[in-house]
Amino acid sequence: MPDTTGGHPAALKVVTLDGPAGVGKTTLARRVADALGIPYLDTGAMFRTMAWRLGPDGPDLDEALLRDRLAGFIFTLRGRGGASVLSCNGEDIGNEIRTEEVGAMASRIAALPVVRECLKAAQQRMGAAQPLVVEGRDMGTVVFPGARHKFFLDAAPEIRAMRRYTQLQTMGEAHDLALLTEQIRSRDEQDRNRAVAPLCPAADAIIVDTGNLDIDGVFGVIMQHIRSRDGL
Ligand code: C5P
Repeated sequence: MPDTTGGHPAALKVVTLDGPAGVGKTTLARRVADALGIPYLDTGAMFRTMAWRLGPDGPDLDEALLRDRLAGFIFTLRGRGGASVLSCNGEDIGNEIRTEEVGAMASRIAALPVVRECLKAAQQRMGAAQPLVVEGRDMGTVVFPGARHKFFLDAAPEIRAMRRYTQLQTMGEAHDLALLTEQIRSRDEQDRNRAVAPLCPAADAIIVDTGNLDIDGVFGVIMQHIRSRDGL
């Protein structure tokens, strides 16, 4: 990719994918990273890991103590494309963080400025060291405002809940659709209305309504924009 950003090194080869829970960001980030041959970073997994490791009392810790604990989490990324692996303090991050309960805990700690500050620095370090596809909530607005390609994916909560329901069913896990819809709505509410780095599209992001598209369709739209902007 040629550098036409003239910006900060962290912005050179960063593709940001932001959007609410359950919109398909992880699947798409992997595929886009595969197509571009660069690593992908799931920043939600960083918030989830912190929430999981801090435990239920995390959000109530005294700020200085919390800052200390957070400084002890060192994230590293290796590999590329769909085979990118994120680890924390030398341990690969596993499926234990993938439940809706941990997602809700992550959303609570994600509202704390000290947590965002600490993760933003780690994310920017990774983006400065290598080209990246990054997915999250504030990648295009706060962490990589100078990113070359920015996308914001959206879909109604009912559609996202139904997708998740189908995905869980395929994995042999039963779930209540009404409860999933409720959980997604409440996480949306929390993520969109927090004071720091709320979920919203960057002014220069391409907004993709995924409601009527399957994963292949969204992937096609994203790659078409990237290729046309980069003259590939
Ligand atoms: O994307 P995922 O569902 O794994 O993210 C879990 C939670 O982490 C989100 O609901 C959100 O509150 C928080 N998050 C965030 N900023 C990011 C990524 C995730 O606030 N860049």
